[in-house]
Amino acid sequence: MIKKIVLRDDEMPTQWYNVVPDLPNGLQPPLDPETKEPMGPDKLAAVFPMGLLEQEMSDQRFIDIPEEVLEVLKIWRPSPLVRAHNLEKALNTKAKIFFKNEGVSPVGSHKPNSAVAQAFYNKKEGVKRLATETGAGQWGSALSLATSKFGLECKVYMVRVSFDQKPYRKSIMQTFGADVIPSPSTDTNTGRAILEKMPDTPGSLGIAISEALEDAATRDDTKYALGSVLNHVILHQSIIGLEAKKQMELAGEFPDVIVGCCGGGSNFAGLAVPYVPDYLEGKKIRFVGMEPASCPSLTGGKLAYDFGDVAQTTPLLYMYTLGHDFIPPGIHAGGLRYHGMAPIVSAMVRENIVDPVKVHQLECFEAGVLFAKTEGIIPAPETCHAIRGAIIEATKDLNDPKTILFNFSGHGLIDMGSFDRYYAGELKDYDYPEEEIAKSMANLPKI
Ligand SMILES: Cc1ncc(COP(=O)(O)O)c(C=O)c1O
Repeated sequence: MIKKIVLRDDEMPTQWYNVVPDLPNGLQPPLDPETKEPMGPDKLAAVFPMGLLEQEMSDQRFIDIPEEVLEVLKIWRPSPLVRAHNLEKALNTKAKIFFKNEGVSPVGSHKPNSAVAQAFYNKKEGVKRLATETGAGQWGSALSLATSKFGLECKVYMVRVSFDQKPYRKSIMQTFGADVIPSPSTDTNTGRAILEKMPDTPGSLGIAISEALEDAATRDDTKYALGSVLNHVILHQSIIGLEAKKQMELAGEFPDVIVGCCGGGSNFAGLAVPYVPDYLEGKKIRFVGMEPASCPSLTGGKLAYDFGDVAQTTPLLYMYTLGHDFIPPGIHAGGLRYHGMAPIVSAMVRENIVDPVKVHQLECFEAGVLFAKTEGIIPAPETCHAIRGAIIEATKDLNDPKTILFNFSGHGLIDMGSFDRYYAGELKDYDYPEEEIAKSMANLPKI
């Protein structure tokens, strides 16, 4: 019985796939918040290098992966595709469950797929230092690894609640030479203003993004790096799905259902987008995006132009959003606590290509523990949402077993504090924070 399918180094994709030109009805452009006109690369060049901005706006379907990026990716890529036989058995289902194991990267998640590319293009254009935010700590770890490979400095604003819950994430970032600080911090105007109003805030990705952007905008030697949401991040993450497609072919399989957890949308889209052309040609594929019930941008938000951050410094993105000043409850999947969703994933939901599904954290931890016991790998709390999704799909109609492919976005070895609290019965589910969402929705920019 085949357990896993592994590609050779020389079988790794050498081009990324850009789904934007294939999206029915395309994407709405980002807008300049002052003029409400489409924002060109010139204004964004203050915080991003041109190489990434070209990718952000590209209408080419395939883009070469630079040799230097491939060399670093080879530290852990191609990642394995694994058949979860033991989970299938435990569920008593005839469904076939495959997962793409992105937890094998040096920092334990899919995030370095984009971090390495972003560090490379910044280095190429003479940037000395990158500033970024991190939720669960995975993106910060990934960028710290990537900047160390290309000899850049790195400053990470880490969402307070994760900083407290995951001290070893900080140690990992420090090992790679990064400077890490809890957000909101006293290092920026945004951070100081928020701390004055809400000294005990758990923080949010929206706040940390504002801090990192302010850092980049106020220093000549620094640019900003974002770990999800943007088109170029999803482009870099497409390597997941491109590899998975080759591996599924080698297994003689084609997925009926593709599942991923959605924070900003990058790991889900990375697995899903290479299958979009098949879907558009008429192949029946169900794409399922799993999100937390306490921060449900796709199932409880609105498709609108909104800021990507609390301080309203980003361009306006057309996306599903809960409002830029929504601070989600402190659930243990820190990487899923974001008010918005990638414009690409938002467009896929708008076009009814993707079905969004919301789940509560306790059922996700339960699914993650079952996965650990059956498959022998402990998932990150974010990844538990994808596992829960795969289990729902595998058990909902036992007479119609499907082939399911999900993205195992990261391992949970640095998240054991969250598992401890789950075992101690200290975690709870949060209801849909209706009042909070209504309040922040009222502050959506008027377009
Ligand atoms: C392990 C893991 N999975 C998923 C996510 C969610 O991010 P995205 O939706 O961009 O993949 C994160 C974010 O930090 C993460 O660390």
